[in-house]
Amino acid sequence: MDLDGITRLYGEYIDSYRDRTGTLPPMMELKRIHTQKVVEVARLIIEGEVFTPEERDKALQAAMLHDAGRFEQIKRYGTFNDAKSVDHAVLSHDIVCEKGWTADEDILAAILYHNRRDLPDGMSPLREKICHLVRDADKLDIFRVLEDQLAANPNLSQDAFWGLQPGEPSPLVVDAILNRKPVDYGLIRTLADFILIQVGWLRNDLYFATTRRLASARGHLEFRRRLLESFTSSPLLDPFFDSIA
Ligand SMILES: [Fe+2]
Repeated sequence: MDLDGITRLYGEYIDSYRDRTGTLPPMMELKRIHTQKVVEVARLIIEGEVFTPEERDKALQAAMLHDAGRFEQIKRYGTFNDAKSVDHAVLSHDIVCEKGWTADEDILAAILYHNRRDLPDGMSPLREKICHLVRDADKLDIFRVLEDQLAANPNLSQDAFWGLQPGEPSPLVVDAILNRKPVDYGLIRTLADFILIQVGWLRNDLYFATTRRLASARGHLEFRRRLLESFTSSPLLDPFFDSIA
């Protein structure tokens, strides 16, 4: 199926979660918008890089479907917290297979692995490229989501951020991110920890030069530095920002 066909079927799928007035629950609406933005960002990254038409098509389909499981995750568990519910990438992969939207193994891999700390070894260069594209586009829009939510809830102490409170970063989280080790999400205790995960992505985990350029032009790292400085002056933060100080 081509991208237009997938877009139509996936739109109908999302519509099935609307209530009688045609409204999506707010958390689902957030993911619907996120999906649109991830596809937009994916197009921007592709334009700045070298993609064949085949690679482009697969990448955009994967970007469209990468969070297919989020709607069912919210419906069943009422949370986006995978640790407390289900690995939403696995659920997305399974729903895409079950619906028959695609059987393309490159697209399915990009959906399945979009939230993993690292990609598995041994993938073909094409598959790896599609995976990286989705992961980059997803991260870039997650940066926007945090900034939009802050704009809507500027008072950090109002419990708006996943129940996390402003506070000092946790040494174990800092150590893991600086040493590029997987972060045990159970260690995340404060808003600083949560923001540092994204700082780690910005510093280490954006694959394409175009993604890094877009992140820089949008000021995402600088935004997080100012945000952290607004509620902590922990010296643990210094190594994260030494290069942009
Ligand atoms: Fe996701």
